Amino acid sequence: MKGIIFNVVEKAVVELLGTEAWEDLLEDADVVGDYTALGTYPDDELIALVVAAAERTGNDPADVQRLIGRNSLEYLVESIEEFVDRDAHVFEFLSSIHTIIHVEVKKLDPNSKPPDIEPNRVSDTELQLTYRSERGLSPLAEGLILGAGDLYETPLSVEALTASVDSAETVLSVRLI
Ligand code: HEM
Repeated sequence: MKGIIFNVVEKAVVELLGTEAWEDLLEDADVVGDYTALGTYPDDELIALVVAAAERTGNDPADVQRLIGRNSLEYLVESIEEFVDRDAHVFEFLSSIHTIIHVEVKKLDPNSKPPDIEPNRVSDTELQLTYRSERGLSPLAEGLILGAGDLYETPLSVEALTASVDSAETVLSVRLI
């Protein structure tokens, strides 16, 4: 996993729980935590940090992924601002992950492996996004989608229509509410 993901997770944790909490998680997860944006680190380190946060806060690891995702999206967007239209409809932004954003991410760093987030516009009020990745982090995707709702000031609900936790393919239904 690219270091930028660890960087935005750190920002989200520090914002939600403070700097000491991040230090505690690094210790619990037994990782050094010297993440640089362009470095690549084992996926297991991200999982260990999520599990450590779940244990410390008494939450489910999937809920920790959702919370972290929701609070990380704005930081990811800041890193790729020129490809983000903040005046667009939130569904256009979410559809552009597949056609533009993760494509640019791969161009900028051919070693990166962003997940496939394929859009299917079902109606004016529903967009389905099919998440595909061997990493099985669709709850993180759910959180990032909710973060997009916050960024575009558009209330959204996200529901997994197929198996979500640890699944390599999950269909997410995003609805305007
Ligand atoms: C709602 C919007 C987004 C969703 C749902 C989404 C989803 C995800 C998820 C779930 C991952 C974790 C890796 C995996 O599951 O395989 C990921 C990785 C990544 N995403 Fe996105 N993402 C979004 C927006 C962005 C934006 C705005 C950027 C801008 C930089 C970005 C850049 C990346 C990068 C660099 C990775 C790491 C890939 C790697 O480590 O090889 N994403 N994305």
